[in-house]
Amino acid sequence: MRQLVFATNNSHKLEEIRRILGESFAVMSLKEIGCHDDIPENENTLQGNAIAKARWVKERYGYDCFADDTGLEVDALDGAPGVHSARYAPGEGHDSEANMRLLLRNMEGKTDRTARFRTVIALIEGDTLTTFEGVCEGTIAVSPAGEGGFGYDPVFVPEGDSRTFAQLSADEKNAISHRGRATVKLINHLHDV
Ligand code: IMP
Repeated sequence: MRQLVFATNNSHKLEEIRRILGESFAVMSLKEIGCHDDIPENENTLQGNAIAKARWVKERYGYDCFADDTGLEVDALDGAPGVHSARYAPGEGHDSEANMRLLLRNMEGKTDRTARFRTVIALIEGDTLTTFEGVCEGTIAVSPAGEGGFGYDPVFVPEGDSRTFAQLSADEKNAISHRGRATVKLINHLHDV
């Protein structure tokens, strides 16, 4: 079985990606390879951050690795929070509740509620770098709904549905999500090489 590190400790994302990748790959988290580094995400694009994270692991720990970076781009907010999605609300660290509250406040009175999630995955195998992108179009709900998922899921309604991501099952979300789509491209690539 092929070993690959996913440069994350987010258990939701690990579960999602393991579910999508199935049995053919052993996907290890940062914790599982003994990496407790606070990997910097200082680039100003999703692609830049994904590449920086994958390189960090490859260079310091030697494993083939992939890393993702995701942003929620809201048209009425000129693409914000975008690359700053994790730390949209001011303050220390990453607080999904505060981020959602700020987003809904900034969307008050906006009629155009279109938005998209975008994920970029960077894969480093040996010395080869490849990137994959997945996009999911949708709209920002007026108030949160649903218990599933994580992050901005309770306020994002994917195109073609009336439920938020947080109201979908994991399989329903994976089938249409930004990360699901980027991951399908990653898997196709891994199965081709
Ligand atoms: P990251 O790049 O995956 O760390 O994500 C950046 C920000 O987007 C964080 O605030 C995440 O909670 C949020 N995010 C990433 N993926 C999703 C998702 O599938 N649904 C909702 N929020 C997400």
